[in-house]
Amino acid sequence: MQNIKTFGRTRGRPLSFRKASLVDARLADFLLPVEISNEGSNNFDPKGLMPNAKAVWFEIGFGGSEHLIAQAKANPDTLIIGAEPFFDGVAKALDGIIENKLENVRLINDDARKYLANFQDNSIDRIFIMFPDPWQKLRHRKRRLVNDAFAHEITRLLKNDGKLRFATDWANYAETALLALTKNPSLKWLAEGPEDWLTPPQDHFTTRYQLKGLGDCAPHFFDFIKI
Ligand SMILES: C[S@@+](CC[C@H](N)C(=O)[O-])C[C@H]1O[C@@H](n2cnc3c(N)ncnc32)[C@H](O)[C@@H]1O
Repeated sequence: MQNIKTFGRTRGRPLSFRKASLVDARLADFLLPVEISNEGSNNFDPKGLMPNAKAVWFEIGFGGSEHLIAQAKANPDTLIIGAEPFFDGVAKALDGIIENKLENVRLINDDARKYLANFQDNSIDRIFIMFPDPWQKLRHRKRRLVNDAFAHEITRLLKNDGKLRFATDWANYAETALLALTKNPSLKWLAEGPEDWLTPPQDHFTTRYQLKGLGDCAPHFFDFIKI
């Protein structure tokens, strides 16, 4: 079954000569093999991409890659896979990887769900969904990434004790995502009170979209653990 599209444009302005050259020379070194996105090629173990990694993390929709690159710098022993359909974001992430000489990042320039569908059960230690497209108009809400079905897919992918972080600054998305995630019996919400979801977690790195403050509420951070 084809996934409903959850993202907007995939191309922006032409890349600078420097970035275009970097993409030509180095992007292939960091991209996940496209075969992983083929339907039915399941059982992919991401650990094989960096066998000495102490954990595997996945960021869905990394945008300008500020969070992806900062987490990779702060956690050099962790393999961090980032997926982003917007090509300019992928080029920016590549720039960050090369500038910081990072060896623990791999990239997907596509819908994360196409690849994740072929990941093994219990193969990811941590998933980040930071400020996903809000699709706030009523008729667009079916495009939201987080719904009941995706909550189920997250629990399939996470290891036991694996963690999910979801952030949004749109009140209605916060409500519907929370509903989908809290009613999943395999996920436990770690918050004890509003301070926990209204205070940026200590290990959070601010994203570009977060700074724009386009939403209708303060940023909410929901941390869950798979039980
Ligand atoms: C509102 S932006 C936020 C970007 C970034 N996380 C930030 O906070 O700055 C949401 C991003 O998610 C990406 N996205 C949406 N659906 C996606 C999917 N199914 N797989 C991967 N990325 C997706 C979009 O292309 C977009 O760049």
